[in-house]
Amino acid sequence: MGKLDNKIALITGGGSGIGRATSLLFANEGASVAVVDWKEEDARKVAGEITQAGGKAIALKADVSKAADAERMVADTVKHFGRLDIIYNNAGIGFARPLHQMSEEEWDRVVDVDLKGVFLGCKYAIPELLKTRGVILSTASVAGIEGIRRMGHYCAAKAGVILLTKSMAMDYSEQGIRVNCICPGVITTPLSETGYDKLTPEKRERARKGAASMHLLQRTGQPEEIARTALFLCSDDASFITGQAVVVDGGWTAGHRMGGQH
Ligand SMILES: NC(=O)c1ccc[n+]([C@@H]2O[C@H](COP(=O)([O-])OP(=O)(O)OC[C@H]3O[C@@H](n4cnc5c(N)ncnc54)[C@H](O)[C@@H]3O)[C@@H](O)[C@H]2O)c1
Repeated sequence: MGKLDNKIALITGGGSGIGRATSLLFANEGASVAVVDWKEEDARKVAGEITQAGGKAIALKADVSKAADAERMVADTVKHFGRLDIIYNNAGIGFARPLHQMSEEEWDRVVDVDLKGVFLGCKYAIPELLKTRGVILSTASVAGIEGIRRMGHYCAAKAGVILLTKSMAMDYSEQGIRVNCICPGVITTPLSETGYDKLTPEKRERARKGAASMHLLQRTGQPEEIARTALFLCSDDASFITGQAVVVDGGWTAGHRMGGQH
């Protein structure tokens, strides 16, 4: 028996990284998954992996920052599978830029995808989740808890996701919807390695070691480690958890390290 048997889950950013790992795990645990991504080909590949393994999945193309796309992704999921039990607002983008060098378009793009995308996903999913007493999960970040150099736009958006999560829990818990978010540390995905391809092998190695050293566990996380947390939060194992920002960061936010590591 799977932990998500007979559940219908919509996962945004499902074509890569954390969303891909979560789509595969949810399907393996019995869920039917709508794999949503603006990169349609990537969504198709992940949905194909699921169906080839005997699971149930569809691929949907949507830009989560656009209201019409968000409305359609929910409608198409319900049309195909009959209802919606889980939405995982996971799609996100980010890049480093000092604030005074950031264009208005760059600011808007990150906030539109990372914060407004969560609002739009929830706006259209909630009417369906009210029928099923469903679950909302989103991917925030340690960047929503602590400042990170050159990531002001991303930090602001992710901090917004955390309080949006808590506010929605206040609004919808009495009607049976649980709402949580996950705050990952650095997870090894194409997003966290943005720009690495432009580095020399030595600089790339230094960047990887620098990222690893931010975590008490001295390594970055794997997408599957977030997927397992997502599974927990979306399953009945987490039936008494709502309004929480669950930190999965290898100890990044545990404290400041005076006097070195050991
Ligand atoms: N990787 C990390 O270190 C890390 C840490 C903390 C939080 N996060 C968050 O985790 C989430 C997943 O990131 P990831 O690391 O797996 O990155 P990723 O780049 O591997 O995957 C993100 C996916 O989202 C899709 N996407 C981006 N914008 C979209 C849009 N507007 N509409 C639909 N799809 C869109 C991309 O095409 C991609 O498939 C993001 O919200 C990110 O901010 C990542």
